[in-house]
Amino acid sequence: GNKNMNAKLVLLGDVGAGKSSLVLRFVKGQFIEFQESTIGAAFFSQTVAVNDATVKFEIWDTAGQERYHSLAPMYYRGAAAAIIVYDITNQASFDRAKKWVQELQAQGNPNMVMALAGNKADLIDARKVAAEVIPLGTKLKYSSSNQDMSKIVVQDRKPEAQTYAEENGLFFMETSAKTALNVNDVFSEIAKRLPRL
Ligand code: GTP
Ligand code: MG
Repeated sequence: GNKNMNAKLVLLGDVGAGKSSLVLRFVKGQFIEFQESTIGAAFFSQTVAVNDATVKFEIWDTAGQERYHSLAPMYYRGAAAAIIVYDITNQASFDRAKKWVQELQAQGNPNMVMALAGNKADLIDARKVAAEVIPLGTKLKYSSSNQDMSKIVVQDRKPEAQTYAEENGLFFMETSAKTALNVNDVFSEIAKRLPRL
């Protein structure tokens, strides 16, 4: 097969979920606390090595604001891969992510490699979207900036992101553009899953 390939990739997701921040981390290794909301879309490219081949991603970072929704098909049409981003501290952003998955399943390239990224994973104390089923009675331990805390789960948490991803043919990772957790990994995993020429 072809050792060097180009792949069009689109990021979709709610306003403020962290799409631009993930791209900035991946492409430039930087993070900005006051990242400006994207207008229209922004283009970047970055190459990753997989085994003995390279994949040059042509990345479309779309705007999450609803008024730009009608532009989205221009960016996901013909895309080989999509990263659908939500913010783990914002339930509405997860609901919005599911809507994007539905739209891609209906209108996108059927062979598209799709990743679901639960971003802002550094904000554990503010988590609203469970990554996996947390059974009743589980004692959750987490540390806040200056104290150790724990709480008992008194209600089954919904098996949200992981299960949703499995049922819909996406792969799932929690990411943090701030700490760089899993950012390169999402792109590498996509590169590995792309159909080879
Ligand atoms: P639109 O362009 O409006 O669709 O938003 P976006 O999805 O591109 O979000 P953006 O990257 O602009 O991030 C929104 C805010 O969240 C910014 O203030 C970022 O600094 C912050 N942010 C992004 N990723 C993370 C993260 O992983 N952790 C934390 N703590 N903050 C983040
Ligand atoms: Mg943006």
